Amino acid sequence: MKSFAGKLAVVTGGGSGIGRELVFQLATAGCSVAACDWDAESIADTAGAAQERTTQGAIVSGHVCDVSNEADVQRFRDELLTRHTTQHVDLMFNNAGIGGGASFLAASREEWERTFAVDWWGVYYCSRTFLPLLIASEQGVLVNTSSVNGFWATLGPNMPNTAYATAKFAVKGFTEALIEDLRTHAPHVRAAVVIPGHVGTDIIANTRRAHRHNEPDALSDAQVQALVPPEGRVKLVRAGMLAADASVDDLRQLLARRESEFRDNAPLSAAAAASTILDGIRAGAWRILVGRDAAALDSAVRAHPDAAYDYPTIAKAAADRATT
Ligand SMILES: NC(=O)c1ccc[n+]([C@@H]2O[C@H](COP(=O)([O-])OP(=O)(O)OC[C@H]3O[C@@H](n4cnc5c(N)ncnc54)[C@H](O)[C@@H]3O)[C@@H](O)[C@H]2O)c1
Repeated sequence: MKSFAGKLAVVTGGGSGIGRELVFQLATAGCSVAACDWDAESIADTAGAAQERTTQGAIVSGHVCDVSNEADVQRFRDELLTRHTTQHVDLMFNNAGIGGGASFLAASREEWERTFAVDWWGVYYCSRTFLPLLIASEQGVLVNTSSVNGFWATLGPNMPNTAYATAKFAVKGFTEALIEDLRTHAPHVRAAVVIPGHVGTDIIANTRRAHRHNEPDALSDAQVQALVPPEGRVKLVRAGMLAADASVDDLRQLLARRESEFRDNAPLSAAAAASTILDGIRAGAWRILVGRDAAALDSAVRAHPDAAYDYPTIAKAAADRATT
C-alpha cells in the first residue's frame, strides 16, 4: 500500500498520543478515518481537529468505545459502517493501550486484569471484529501495537511490568502468527507489529485515569506508599531521583513529575512515532521498530538472549548498538 488516499482506516485509542497523531497524518494524506477512544471528550476533539486537516474529501469520525468490551467494539463497527457507507475497511490500527498491573505479586488482581484486558483482549476483540472487513477490501493491513515490553518483559531493576509485558508479548506473538494464517487464507491482507520504545505521550496520566487512581496531589499517604513500594523507593534513591530521607510528600511530587517528564523528556514525539509507523506500512514492513532506543534494545536482546535480564550486560549492548 503506497498511498493512503481514498482508503478507510480504523484507529483505536485515537484520543491521545500516537493514536491521535495517526489520525491526523492519515487525514492529511486523504485517508478517511473512524477513530475510537473510551474518553468521549478527547476522541471528539481529535475527530474535529483531524476533519479540518483532511484532503481529497476524506471523512473523519470519532466514536466512543472501550476496546476491552466486545459488544462496544461491535457497536463501533456498526456505527462506522453507517457513517462511512461502506462494507469494508483498508487499515486497522490496534493502538489503544494502558499501563498498570506492574507486579503479579503486589498489584491488585483487578488492576492486573484491567491492564491485560485492554492491552490483549482489546486487540483480540478488534481483530475478530474488523478482520472480516479487511478481508472484504482489495488490500488490507492489520497493524497491532506491541512494545519493547513485547520482547523484553521488564522496565529494569526493581521495576517489574508483568500485566503489560504479558499482553504485549501476546500481541506480538498473535501478529506474527497471523502472517502465515493470512498468507494461507487471505493473501491480500497482511499484518504488521509496531514496537515502540519511549515515545512522549500522556500514557502515564491516562493509565492513572484508567485505573481510577486520584491525581497525585489528591492521593492519601497510604496510596502514595502503595504506588511506590519500598523496592521502588530503593531504585529511585539509587538512580538519584529521590533523597534517601524523602518524605511522603516528596514521593507525591515525584509521581506528579513522572507524568509530565515521561511526556516531555522522551527521545521521540508522538508525531514522529506516527510517521515512522505510516512509513513502515507504506514500505510493506511487518515489523516496525519505533525509535532508536527500541532498535538498540531489540539488537541487544537478540545478540544476548541468555543475558536479557542481566541489566548491565543488556544496557551496555544497547548503548554500543545505539552509538553505531
Ligand atoms: N508512549 C510510549 O512510550 C509507548 C511505548 C511502547 C508502546 N506504546 C503503546 O503505544 C500505544 C499508544 O500509546 P500512547 O503512548 O499514545 O498512549 P496515550 O495514553 O497517549 O494514548 C492511548 C489512548 O488509548 C485510549 N485507551 C486506553 N484504553 C482504552 C480502551 N479500553 N478503549 C479505548 N481507548 C482506550 C486512551 O484513552 C488514550 O487516548 C499503546 O498501545 C501503548 O502501549 C507506547
